Amino acid sequence: AWAQEMHRPAIHFSPKKGWMNDPNGMVYLNGTYHLFFQHNPDSTVWGPMHWGHAVSKDLVHWKELPIALYPDSLGTIFSGSAVVDFNNTAGFGKQAMVTIYTNHNHRLEAAGSDKFQNQSIAYSLDEGKTWTKYNGNPVLSNPGIRDFRDPKVSWYEAGKKWIMTLATKDRITFYSSPDLKHWKEESQFGKDLGAHGGVWECPDLFPLNDNGREIWVLIVNINPGGPNGGSGTQYFTGSFDGHSFKADHTGTKWLDYGPDEYAGVTWSNTPGRRIFLGWMSNWDYANVVPTQNWRSATSIARELKLVKTSDGYLVASQPVREFNKVKTSTGNYHIKATKGKLALSLSRAASFTVTLSNDVGEQTVIGYDHQKREYFIDRRLSGDTAFHNGFAARYTVPRFTHSAVLDLTLVIDVSSVELFADGGRSVMTAIFFPHKDYTDLNISRNVPVKKISYEEFE
Ligand code: FRU
Repeated sequence: AWAQEMHRPAIHFSPKKGWMNDPNGMVYLNGTYHLFFQHNPDSTVWGPMHWGHAVSKDLVHWKELPIALYPDSLGTIFSGSAVVDFNNTAGFGKQAMVTIYTNHNHRLEAAGSDKFQNQSIAYSLDEGKTWTKYNGNPVLSNPGIRDFRDPKVSWYEAGKKWIMTLATKDRITFYSSPDLKHWKEESQFGKDLGAHGGVWECPDLFPLNDNGREIWVLIVNINPGGPNGGSGTQYFTGSFDGHSFKADHTGTKWLDYGPDEYAGVTWSNTPGRRIFLGWMSNWDYANVVPTQNWRSATSIARELKLVKTSDGYLVASQPVREFNKVKTSTGNYHIKATKGKLALSLSRAASFTVTLSNDVGEQTVIGYDHQKREYFIDRRLSGDTAFHNGFAARYTVPRFTHSAVLDLTLVIDVSSVELFADGGRSVMTAIFFPHKDYTDLNISRNVPVKKISYEEFE
């Protein structure tokens, strides 16, 4: 029955009730994708953080499980990551799943201390069903930095050690450990590079492949100071040698230019592909969006790939291939449906629009402006926008290729659209809240569409 609630997404994960923000501890094990998330189960606004838990076999359909981590004497449970300890380095047991998270101590904060964020760990020996907090927590104590959080841990095979990538105010600090319990500082990165309009949060570090060459990607979420003012996901490309990260560029790169993808990081333990997922909201208004019993959804899962351009490396995103296994209808320019995936291919780049609308005159317009060479999402007339001054806006992302063929994939749900253009080089996510669900999708263009397909999701 909750699937019929107003604005409730159909093909995105959202909690049954209560508040959600960042995705946490994404890890794959034995056929199951685990997704934990920042969760306040007792209220629809941010509050005492728990780790909620959901699982999926295909990254499309999610099942919510009982809460995994509750606040404890060291604090509430802020963002972090999870690993499978295949080598039993921590001694918790074979194939132990270990979460590494920030304990946020509100009592210490209120008392005026700067040391209220510390890193702790917990483990599960039954694939995430039950969790035990390590009795030696915290495993990394705060040296006196107010923003000291969101550990992303991964195994660095070349050095046979764990690397923790930690957001430390205006930079990233890397730590290493043989056993997840003892951590040593390796280096710092980024104080003078990238966007600094807000505090650095939720980082990630992983290699991607460029024809056999390993290029390292460092994701750094930032709030405020994103491409639209509020929250956003920037990244750096470069090298990592087990000790320090070196960027191969100076400019700022954004993974998603829309207003509503934040705190995105990638799954651990998915050999052969790198899968990313973010929180589909923005701190500018996340606490006041007009949903009833819950707040926020995640983005869809996206596969990340490296693209080499004359300007250096670009990280492109596409919906994971699991989204292709759905019903398809083609060749119809006026489609009476939402909740699906629309794919267009045009033989020559020219302006066009895709309009989602309902019968009370509300609409969200997505399109491409050939003159300005940019894609856009315009939600000025999308429905309820009054809850936040500035929500009614138009957003753009540049086109990053001169290719004669333009391809565009839109993932459309009840209250969101995700745009992936030119092989995922240009990406944008935006949410909207029409007073009645959109029912119509109209494509208007002045060049022939080579190929169009619309796949409706079950
Ligand atoms: C990012 C963030 C994290 C923090 C969490 C708290 O959205 O602020 O830095 O760990 O949310 O819920």
